[in-house]
Amino acid sequence: MTKLVLTQEKELSQEEIKELQEEVRKLAKKKNAVILAHYYQRPEVQDIADFVGDSLELARKASKTDADIIVFCGVRFMCETAKIVNPTKKVLHPNPESGCPMADMITADQVRKLREKHPDAEFVAYINTTADVKAEVDICVTSANAPKIIKKLNAKKIVFLPDQALGNWVAKQVPDKEFVIWKGFCPPHFEFTYKELLKLKKQYPDAKVAVHPECHPKVIELADFVGSTSQIIKYATSVDVNRVIIITEVGLKHTLQKINPNKEYIFPQSMNYCRTVYCCTMKGITLPKVYETLKNETNEVILPEDIIERAKRPIQRMLDLS
Ligand code: 13P
Ligand code: SF4
Repeated sequence: MTKLVLTQEKELSQEEIKELQEEVRKLAKKKNAVILAHYYQRPEVQDIADFVGDSLELARKASKTDADIIVFCGVRFMCETAKIVNPTKKVLHPNPESGCPMADMITADQVRKLREKHPDAEFVAYINTTADVKAEVDICVTSANAPKIIKKLNAKKIVFLPDQALGNWVAKQVPDKEFVIWKGFCPPHFEFTYKELLKLKKQYPDAKVAVHPECHPKVIELADFVGSTSQIIKYATSVDVNRVIIITEVGLKHTLQKINPNKEYIFPQSMNYCRTVYCCTMKGITLPKVYETLKNETNEVILPEDIIERAKRPIQRMLDLS
């Protein structure tokens, strides 16, 4: 194998990427490890995964795997969810610094205080929350199942946290319930403006628009389709037009092009210094980090047993209802 400098991050050549991918796959086989990756991961990381999916599919996969090790290529809350649903497994996170800023916008203490204010409400947490927060709520949801699950709940009043965009989108679809919505948000999605979308629609009048529900309500209003990453992939690759404007993290382009290369997928080009909708922490998982983490079995996700016990219930309830 070429001598790779793995401790320092550097741009890898195509040849180095290929070699490192082969090494990771060999290690995974030898150690009976499963590699799970979210669609926002770098293309070279997605390509070594046993399974690439949205948050719901990844939680399901993690709960069912019989591998000894789960290498989770995603942000921290996803790794914690994998540990909670399969606590006897060793879950490794290739970059422990990769968190989700939205998940950090509410604490367990804040949830407890909200409970005192709304004792009659059912507490619904987006899966993008810390394990401590999940331990305080009644049920979890993802962007793939939130409206469906909330419609099934008995309570008339719902406290939804932490994503205001997803909460508002769901509330519109469940008008018979009262919603109290926390003011968290996903920086890359929420900061994309409807004015930028209007420009894209003008530039590509024949295109359909698919949007993630973490986007601002004014962006959602302009969409032909709103859904989770997996749902966007299904829609965009099969809809009866040649061009689809996609307002979600640019990592999705890799799978879209693999599934249906005959369509044009237009991602925004002008929004911030990254020039597109880009999640810096998702991209903090690099191929060398995956390799080193699996080789040395470092960066293990450890959670207190009582948190695992309490956080498991809302996740399991979600998996049973969806
Ligand atoms: P999905 O569940 O749609 O994959 O979304 C996860 C996420 O973090 C979106 O920003
Ligand atoms: Fe969190 Fe947004 Fe990144 Fe998803 S895209 S992990 S919600 S910051």
